[in-house]
Amino acid sequence: MANRDCLRDTPVCAFQTGFPATKLVYRLSVKAWMEKAAKLREVITDILPVDVHHPQPLAPDALPSAGADCLVSCFCLESVSPDLATFTRALGHIGRLLRPGGHLLLIGALGESYYFGGPGVKIPVVPLNEAEVCGSLKESGFTLIRLEVYTLPQDMRVGVDDVNGVFFVKARKD
Ligand SMILES: C[S@@+](CC[C@H](N)C(=O)[O-])C[C@H]1O[C@@H](n2cnc3c(N)ncnc32)[C@H](O)[C@@H]1O
Repeated sequence: MANRDCLRDTPVCAFQTGFPATKLVYRLSVKAWMEKAAKLREVITDILPVDVHHPQPLAPDALPSAGADCLVSCFCLESVSPDLATFTRALGHIGRLLRPGGHLLLIGALGESYYFGGPGVKIPVVPLNEAEVCGSLKESGFTLIRLEVYTLPQDMRVGVDDVNGVFFVKARKD
């Protein structure tokens, strides 16, 4: 699920948040980052509309009938779900895009109840914990392969949201 801004030549995504860690990482690894971005642009052949709340999130003929080998979703499902049931349902919907045995790489926020999408635009988020992420994966037909959790240090909480951590999941579609 790609964001069009990320495909432009300027590194918009690295700078738009003004997030101190993003700036630091960017300074430390600017060359590697730019090379990775260029490689990604080369291999992306299309950008399609997707709605994770729809049982069929992509147009019917968008993927090979067997399904996709791999799916990557980053800070999307929880940020568009007001509660755990909606998050789990959305996970089930995108799971249908994968072939059996295909892999899901899922990154998301923990403990976040809102973020500001713009000045004064407060967007509600389901505040997840690790056990809920694992439960939703199981309920949606995934086998968890690896879960990593990163706790946000206090000095990185800059007021655009109330996130307290990030989860990184690798899972396999049953
Ligand atoms: C918090 S942003 C994350 C953006 C990007 N993945 C990132 O990590 O920076 C949430 C994204 O979900 C997208 N979105 C909103 N409703 C959606 C829906 N029903 N289905 C799929 N994506 C949706 C928004 O357009 C936005 O790009």
